[in-house]
Amino acid sequence: MARYQPHDAYYWRARERGLPSRAAFKLDELLARHRLIRSGARVIDLGCAPGGWLAVLAEAVGARGRVIGIDLAPSRVASPNVIALTGDLNDPAIRAEALARLAGQADLITSDLSPKLTGIADRDQARSAELLYVALEFARTALRPGGAMVAKAFMGAAFDEIAAEFRRAFARVELTRPRASRPGSAEIYLVATGFKPDPHPAQA
Ligand SMILES: C[S@@+](CC[C@H](N)C(=O)[O-])C[C@H]1O[C@@H](n2cnc3c(N)ncnc32)[C@H](O)[C@@H]1O
Repeated sequence: MARYQPHDAYYWRARERGLPSRAAFKLDELLARHRLIRSGARVIDLGCAPGGWLAVLAEAVGARGRVIGIDLAPSRVASPNVIALTGDLNDPAIRAEALARLAGQADLITSDLSPKLTGIADRDQARSAELLYVALEFARTALRPGGAMVAKAFMGAAFDEIAAEFRRAFARVELTRPRASRPGSAEIYLVATGFKPDPHPAQA
């Protein structure tokens, strides 16, 4: 039988702030703490459904900004400055569409990508790491020099390797856990700033 899980303070705080979910509260906290966004910014949100982060980002970039989301599942979108695309981030066509809709280089890429969890820790961590590599590869094609990325990761065997890959691509990488993360959760967030484009990109 499912165990009753009472809502904690972060659930109620998210409700009070009019944020759609606890996940949204976490992003809101990271954006405020690291000053990652300004009005008018262009953002791509990877793994955006059902739309909690999209709502936070839409408010942060304001009417002159633009937010493009990508997810396998459809998202709820309530702002004119947000477009949510339904598709697989591995698909070059959906990546190209996101870049075309953004109409310029991204200031910030956010990734809350998560595979369908099996409960087998090693497998879940490996699939989550694969998704994060795909997100970073996409960010390399989408970000402006000096741009930023916020990405959820899970502590596990592949984590050090991923963090090293982020450190090669960005001038600064901080590992942080929002206060709103559930106690005991293996999730951790990479907050990477100062994107350094590859001076010798591989030919396609
Ligand atoms: C934790 S949820 C995101 C929640 C979202 N940030 C919010 O606030 O509503 C993770 C999402 O990653 C998406 N996802 C997983 N693999 C994907 C892929 N290959 N391409 C696009 N989206 C993917 C899932 O469909 C899922 O909706």
